Amino acid sequence: MVEGALPPRVLVTGADGKIGRAVVDELTARGSEVVGLSIEWTGPSAATAIVTADAQDEAAVAAALEGVSAVVHLAAIPHPSLADPYTVYRTNTDATFNVLAQAGQRGIRRAVIASSINAFGVPMNHHGLSPAYYPIDEDIPAAIDDWYSLSKRSDELTAEMAASRWDMDIVAIRFPFVGRADEVRRHAQVEDPQAAREGWSYLDLRDAAGVVMKALVAPVRGAVVVGVSAPDTYRPEPTAELLATYAPAVPRRREPHGRDALIDTTRARELLGFEAQHGIQTEEVSR
Ligand SMILES: NC(=O)c1ccc[n+]([C@@H]2O[C@H](COP(=O)([O-])OP(=O)(O)OC[C@H]3O[C@@H](n4cnc5c(N)ncnc54)[C@H](O)[C@@H]3O)[C@@H](O)[C@H]2O)c1
Repeated sequence: MVEGALPPRVLVTGADGKIGRAVVDELTARGSEVVGLSIEWTGPSAATAIVTADAQDEAAVAAALEGVSAVVHLAAIPHPSLADPYTVYRTNTDATFNVLAQAGQRGIRRAVIASSINAFGVPMNHHGLSPAYYPIDEDIPAAIDDWYSLSKRSDELTAEMAASRWDMDIVAIRFPFVGRADEVRRHAQVEDPQAAREGWSYLDLRDAAGVVMKALVAPVRGAVVVGVSAPDTYRPEPTAELLATYAPAVPRRREPHGRDALIDTTRARELLGFEAQHGIQTEEVSR
């Protein structure tokens, strides 16, 4: 693969999903061929080839990887409430193991996987914990007590294993809430007393596709976990005021200015060269 150029043919799992569709559109618009894999399809896709299969299916994933030089693995059950605990945990971790193992064994060296801000557990922890500090970075102490968060943390470890075992370079992206502008605005209007635990974070869908493009070509080696966020919170108040009201006891490693995001995106900038371009209050947003 030429450094900086997108891979010529990419397997995207979860290609029918919210982020998957944006990634497929962006890759095909930039000239890559895409094999789109999803367990079901709700409409037409821009993908070059469509595969209807479970990402846990070894033979189906092996066949879908034919001629592919990189993988974007997004297929998952994206919330603990969408199935029973066993199904959420098994599906997510087994699919990630299968996709990375099949890719690694075939000599595919680059993968991007969807982790989540929930990989540190605190946002969904039912004991009402707060983050150990702000801004939230990739090394923040974890406190996991739900099966979805656990599956995402496990996926990050699976990436570490695959990178070591098969000499792969794998970027695990910790997405916060991802949406189009209208979805982010709706999300912002829901009074959620727990939103402080995610730092009122979000990422515009176009930026979600953008960070995947960066992660496909960045000169990273081995497995890395990268947190991402819009440049601001989705709330109208100054961030310092939000913290004073909702999280006064949580230590701050840096004082926020204006409506600064509470996710530390230093690693995304330094390792991937990625900075989110779209903020909810600051400019025109995606439709
Ligand atoms: N959207 C968010 O706000 C957000 C935030 C954090 C992390 N994530 C992660 O990003 C990824 C994509 O999220 P999304 O919002 O696009 O989700 P989505 O539910 O819109 O899309 C997921 C897609 O995967 C498919 N799928 C599910 N299980 C599958 C399986 N076993 N085999 C094959 N396909 C399967 C679904 O049919 C769907 O098309 C997920 O891994 C999710 O956990 C999303």
